[in-house]
Amino acid sequence: MRVRLGRVRACVTLPVLLVAGALIGWGAASTLARGSNPPRGKAEYDLYCAACHGPEGRGDEPSAASLPIKPWNLTDGGLMNPLPDEFIHLTIAKSGAAVGLSPLMPAFAAYLSDAQIGDLVAYIRTLAVPARARGETAIGPIYPPNAPVQPILFSHVVHAGAYRINGQYCHSDARRSQYAGLPSVERCMGCHKIVAAEGNPQVKRLRGYWERKEPIPWVRIFKVPEFVYFPHKPHIRADVPCQTCHGAIQTYNQIPAVRGPNLVNDAKNLVGVPARPPQLSMGWCIECHREQNRTRGTKAPLDCVSCHH
Ligand code: HEC
Ligand code: HEC
Ligand code: HEC
Ligand code: HEC
Ligand code: HEC
Repeated sequence: MRVRLGRVRACVTLPVLLVAGALIGWGAASTLARGSNPPRGKAEYDLYCAACHGPEGRGDEPSAASLPIKPWNLTDGGLMNPLPDEFIHLTIAKSGAAVGLSPLMPAFAAYLSDAQIGDLVAYIRTLAVPARARGETAIGPIYPPNAPVQPILFSHVVHAGAYRINGQYCHSDARRSQYAGLPSVERCMGCHKIVAAEGNPQVKRLRGYWERKEPIPWVRIFKVPEFVYFPHKPHIRADVPCQTCHGAIQTYNQIPAVRGPNLVNDAKNLVGVPARPPQLSMGWCIECHREQNRTRGTKAPLDCVSCHH
């Protein structure tokens, strides 16, 4: 009975279904308005992404097994949730290379509109387990205009965000000395002899420095003048998070440069107009020391010689 009914219905409704299918294809918005399945972005996903990332997004398609770098597991919330929307959007539009990842993740701007890519980002978010908390990692832009270009496109979004590599694993002197320190090429290669060893041009550049035994000529970003003594150690020991002073590092592909001095700000303070001191200025250090001492009972110095030996 059931089967027969189904067959009859199929004959009658097939053309109708085809038309309906085309309509859904034309306007994801109309699909949403009717509140029917499939969700926005799924059609694009099935068409362009499932071949590598798998129908469920787990990145375990047999077709991708031969790639030297595996498609990401889009259902891994721990990995995916820290990525800002902009990071994913840029990757889909302009390929993995646009964020320093592998061009094996292709560019789709020629096939998909900006709005469709937006739908894809939203759709990918629905795959993640655990689900992403509202407003998680909204800070941006990932390429701030005031950030210097570094010799290797090294992403804190990937390392400190997605993979949650602790800042002190790489800047390992912060806890015990004045300087936070930058990781040696050996430390990078400790992972990258294996991780993305092939198929990523940026990692290839890293390997180049290693083979030539050259240090990576990173551009210095945070700097106080020579006559200032700033030690990392007491700050880390007092549990001041890196982000309090350096910003939401894990959301940047290039770190913005914020430097003192700021003459306008200094002048304002001189004439008694309160202005929030800019990062790395003397006012910034002192304001925080006062506040920490008041609210947390710390003994951060306010005397000149502590900061000016
Ligand atoms: C040819 C195989 C292939 C196809 C097709 C493909 N990807 Fe990827 N994708 C990859 C690979 C490989 C990586 C990992 C790149 C890396 O780690 O360097 C990746 C990584 C990603 C990432 C995680 C990293 C990031 O920068 O956000 C997202 C998200 C992603 N792909 C989404 C998509 C979407 C959406 C589509 C369809 C529009 C798609 N991919 C199509 C191979 C593919
Ligand atoms: C603890 C392991 C680890 C260390 C240490 C490490 N990386 Fe990575 N790195 C990774 C992982 C994991 C990825 C993601 C690989 C992928 O999905 O393609 C990655 C990706 C990259 C990429 C491509 C994505 C991007 O834009 O960042 C570059 C370039 C890179 N690393 C450079 C470096 C450099 C330079 C250092 C040292 C300063 C370094 N890595 C240290 C694990 C590490
Ligand atoms: C109380 C504020 C503060 C905290 C907390 C802090 N830093 Fe810094 N950091 C600074 C200042 C100020 C400088 C500039 C120091 C100088 O010029 O000698 C700096 C410089 C650096 C540099 C120098 C490299 C460069 O190119 O800019 C690195 C790396 C760094 N910090 C990493 C870290 C890490 C990682 C943490 C957390 C473990 C951290 N910092 C915590 C204030 C801070
Ligand atoms: C908590 C740390 C700290 C303390 C305490 C401190 N300073 Fe500074 N001072 C700084 C920093 C950081 C700068 C560099 C600011 C910049 O580059 O804009 C600076 C800069 C200066 C400058 C140079 C200003 C310029 O624009 O070139 C003078 C002069 C100075 N301090 C005097 C003093 C005197 C006097 C005291 C004591 C009343 C004092 N500082 C206490 C951190 C401190
Ligand atoms: C986000 C808040 C914050 C900022 C910004 C900050 N400090 Fe501190 N500073 C602290 C705290 C907290 C301590 C530790 C107090 C304690 O151990 O009781 C401290 C301690 C110090 C000490 C004492 C070191 C010691 O051995 O006792 C120096 C010197 C110092 N800071 C210099 C600076 C300078 C220079 C700047 C600006 C370039 C700065 N700090 C910016 C919070 C801050």
